[in-house]
Amino acid sequence: MLKKITIIGLGYVGLPLAHAFSGKYEVVGFDINKPRVDELNSGFDRTLELTSEQVNESLKNGMKFTMDIEDIKDSNVYIVTVPTPIDNNNEPDLTPIEKSTETVSKVLKKGDIVIYESTVYPGVTEEVCVPILEGGSGLKFNEDFYCGYSPERINPGDKEHTVTKILKITSGSTPEIAKVVDELYKSIITAGTHLASSIKVAEAAKVIENTQRDVNIALMNELAMIFDTMNINTNAVLEAAATKWNFIKLAPGLVGGHCIGVDPYYLTHKAQSLGYTPNLILGARHINNGMSKLIADKAVKYMVKADKKLNGAKVLVLGITFKENCPDMRNTKVVDIISELQEYECDVDVYDYWVDKSDRESKTIPFIDELPYNSHKYDAIIVAVGHDKFKEITQEEYAGLSKGAPIVIDVKGIVENPTWRL
Ligand SMILES: NC(=O)c1ccc[n+]([C@@H]2O[C@H](COP(=O)([O-])OP(=O)(O)OC[C@H]3O[C@@H](n4cnc5c(N)ncnc54)[C@H](O)[C@@H]3O)[C@@H](O)[C@H]2O)c1
Repeated sequence: MLKKITIIGLGYVGLPLAHAFSGKYEVVGFDINKPRVDELNSGFDRTLELTSEQVNESLKNGMKFTMDIEDIKDSNVYIVTVPTPIDNNNEPDLTPIEKSTETVSKVLKKGDIVIYESTVYPGVTEEVCVPILEGGSGLKFNEDFYCGYSPERINPGDKEHTVTKILKITSGSTPEIAKVVDELYKSIITAGTHLASSIKVAEAAKVIENTQRDVNIALMNELAMIFDTMNINTNAVLEAAATKWNFIKLAPGLVGGHCIGVDPYYLTHKAQSLGYTPNLILGARHINNGMSKLIADKAVKYMVKADKKLNGAKVLVLGITFKENCPDMRNTKVVDIISELQEYECDVDVYDYWVDKSDRESKTIPFIDELPYNSHKYDAIIVAVGHDKFKEITQEEYAGLSKGAPIVIDVKGIVENPTWRL
């Protein structure tokens, strides 16, 4: 069967996937965000996951980036890579996945396969999406059309573990379709595939990968808080403990972004809806969400100790993206540090050279475009993100940025002799 593939949602996940498929298949990229579609058609990817060369290569391979449903009518495989965020109550917001599924239902034909890649709780594909697909198309699941689930494991900004180099879990709604889905991914994923026994197993596998990481980071954060009260250097403890072969070494820190701080809530939502309270997972979430306040409080404490007036104190925050060396600000916990400091009436400046200039024009975040070396301006500096260039800032440069004796709060363990280190 000659496959024409439509990728629905051209973000961090969808675009690299579309590019990977475009070398082998006829591919259409569909998105509802006009500026995004326009910029891709002009050869630019603001997420920086693809270079302009790669975007243009996809275009040369015949790929079409579109908002027009007419362009996706004749595909026979639809791969959904839309966001799966949480709402203000930390509950899953399935709106994008439901809306995009409605779109697919309007073009669904006999024999088509709809594969979901978005991170979800077990059951979303078959219990939420399938009824929408059936309702919108009038077709019957597993008779007329089929589904698959294949979670994405990429890591924004990671140029080593790119989509084709990460082993991919695959699954399908019947044993035959599972094989078709698996073969489809095998044809582009050089790292190979793992065919899971069901869609729910594949959904659950993805959500626990990120939940495990979240819980383990929460443990490191708790340990950091304990050792702080004991005046013991957490990093040194972790270095020592990691000499045991089976110690899981992770660093304490902020947990933001689109995945690790969000996905566990998908699992806890489902667990709670079935009457099970996942105390460990929710406790980990609580600890990780509390780290921003702890870091802001440390800066405040050291400023008070140094007799600085908090109202109007100038604080420099280095880095705002949710992780190092990428422009992704989604769900970054650094904003909570900033708002906590602003509650104390501190005057905060944020410097992050990774953030796109147009995003830096934001009215809500007080960005500065250059670091004012030798300005002796700041009462405290918080190194919040471990971008490579921040690792090169010298002690003299911190002194030149600081008013009086430098107060440097190091969240990422990249500053020599900071005032306080997480
Ligand atoms: N970012 C990552 O590194 C990563 C890694 C693994 C898994 N995931 C998961 O993959 C999914 C997508 O994440 P992302 O980071 O690519 O998101 P993103 O926000 O970068 O991109 C999603 C795209 O979907 C589009 N979209 C939204 N609603 C749509 C609709 N109804 N129809 C068509 N397009 C629509 C948006 O305009 C956007 O361009 C999420 O479930 C996420 O949890 C993300």
